[in-house]
Amino acid sequence: MEFTQRFVHFPITRTLNPILFSILFLFFISNSNSVHGRHHFQKKQGNPTSSNVSPQNPSYAPSLPPSPIDNGDGNPNDPNPDPCIFDVRSYGAVGDCSTDDTQAFIEAWNEACQTESGTLLAPSDYNFTITSTIFSGPCKPGFTFQIDGTLMPPDGPDCWPNDDSKKQWLVFYRVDGMALQGNGLIEGNGEKWWDLPCKPHRGPNGSTLPGPCDSPALIRFFDCSNLHVQGLRIHNSPQFHVKFDACENVLIENLFIDSPALSPNTDGIHVENTKFVGIYNSVIRNGDDCVSIGAGCSHVDIENITCGPGHGISIGSLGVHHTQACVSNVTVTNVVIKNSDNGVRIKTWQGGMGSVTFITFESVLMENVRNCIIIDQYYCFTKGCTNQTSAVFVSDVAYRNIKGTYDVRSPPMHFACSDTVPCTNITLSEVELLPYEGEMVADPFCWNAYGGMETLTIPPITCLQDGAPQSIEESTVYRC
Ligand SMILES: *[C@@H]1O[C@H](CO)[C@@H](O)[C@H](O)[C@H]1NC(C)=O
Ligand SMILES: *[C@@H]1O[C@H](CO)[C@@H](O)[C@H](O)[C@H]1NC(C)=O
Ligand SMILES: *[C@@H]1O[C@H](CO)[C@@H](O)[C@H](O)[C@H]1NC(C)=O
Ligand SMILES: *[C@@H]1O[C@H](CO)[C@@H](O)[C@H](O)[C@H]1NC(C)=O
Ligand SMILES: *[C@@H]1O[C@H](CO)[C@@H](O)[C@H](O)[C@H]1NC(C)=O
Ligand SMILES: *[C@@H]1O[C@H](CO)[C@@H](O)[C@H](O)[C@H]1NC(C)=O
Repeated sequence: MEFTQRFVHFPITRTLNPILFSILFLFFISNSNSVHGRHHFQKKQGNPTSSNVSPQNPSYAPSLPPSPIDNGDGNPNDPNPDPCIFDVRSYGAVGDCSTDDTQAFIEAWNEACQTESGTLLAPSDYNFTITSTIFSGPCKPGFTFQIDGTLMPPDGPDCWPNDDSKKQWLVFYRVDGMALQGNGLIEGNGEKWWDLPCKPHRGPNGSTLPGPCDSPALIRFFDCSNLHVQGLRIHNSPQFHVKFDACENVLIENLFIDSPALSPNTDGIHVENTKFVGIYNSVIRNGDDCVSIGAGCSHVDIENITCGPGHGISIGSLGVHHTQACVSNVTVTNVVIKNSDNGVRIKTWQGGMGSVTFITFESVLMENVRNCIIIDQYYCFTKGCTNQTSAVFVSDVAYRNIKGTYDVRSPPMHFACSDTVPCTNITLSEVELLPYEGEMVADPFCWNAYGGMETLTIPPITCLQDGAPQSIEESTVYRC
């Protein structure tokens, strides 16, 4: 599953919202200090209270001196320790691939998080194993979680402690202002989870059986703000690799996410209810969406990432079980998508409410991608989804400079909008998609889709309807 890394040099056309850009830029600047930096990058709101970590009852070791470790050779007995670096080995972590190092991480967290510019260090050349843990904030300003070695969960469901959540592994909760970074590896040991008989095609003879199916998201941020996640390799997650829920101001850079094409539900980066997100300069190969953007997200900026194999970049699925979903101001620029089931996709369930607006996909290179450009408002896992009258309203979506090759099993452009709520103001410009191999699929598909092209597309698209639909319902259900 090796792909040569190759970048198209699209002109960098920053279509960034200037406010978002300055926020992310300032954030980046203030965080570009190294482990040993002393920046105070965030004013805390309120008093930092003492941090908390689950599993509960961490047996604090009050007499332990703060991590004695130096800056360079990793000798824990260095006579001139950096008082801000909290090496997990000083708290008893062994890092031999088999010892459970959870307690050491918890103790190191509790001290590092409460020290200004504190760094929890998982040093290189060690393989630490920890069980599902919630690391709670708030922390003192300048906190860094530095992973230079390997960090991994227990190997598969049979080794998972019974009392631990099977839905998540590393959880950061209510942390404001933190860098998660390093040259290290987070190895998810996902294989035994992907092979559970409940997973698609994993039962006998390719069947899917009932049975316990929960699988942990590898890294989850919940209710966090001002995060900088960078540099790590993240492999083989049992489920989503990195997930952000109810967060604000998130900068993600230089991640390398890698799982097999046939690993189920292994989304690379998932955001929901999260605002002001930048995802830059990363490579994601996996078995599901490269990046997925759920309900409640706005100001998501994605630039210079390479996706594939996988399922492309998705907004959705939105509006499941008649829920309201609002997504706005998403830009995707200078990305490569290859060997994927979808390219850039908006997917909504019938019966939803809310809207998806101001979405721009610009300078995307497709390579052997099925459904390069797709809006699917009939998203459904089963065959039995009935038609509904409401839908998430999709509007103001621009596709510019989308080029490359498609898998001829599906048309390269597919706009299947709701019967009752048309998609409006879809703009296409410089879209040129050719078959990867085989015959060209002549007809793009449109259903109830309004918009137009600014330049001729390849293949030509004539099925978009001009102007605006006669009756866009001014119903409040589409408001956000
Ligand atoms: C330990 O981690 C290194 C990477 O840091 C990895 O190459 C090695 O395979 C790991 N060992 C085991 C037994 O997982
Ligand atoms: C799997 O398929 C083989 C060959 O078709 C058949 O002999 C076998 O009984 C099947 N196994 C199960 C568990 O269905
Ligand atoms: C794009 O991202 C790659 C890493 O995937 C990086 O090597 C390259 O320098 C980035 N390009 C730009 C223009 O930032
Ligand atoms: C998204 O951008 C549009 C146009 O720039 C702006 O009118 C709208 O308020 C923005 N949406 C949000 C949620 O900020
Ligand atoms: C639902 O609506 C679509 C679009 O009009 C139509 O193709 C499909 O047959 C309908 N399905 C049912 C079950 O009525
Ligand atoms: C159509 O969408 C674009 C963004 O793609 C926006 O700039 C423009 O104002 C919209 N046009 C109308 C008529 O709403």
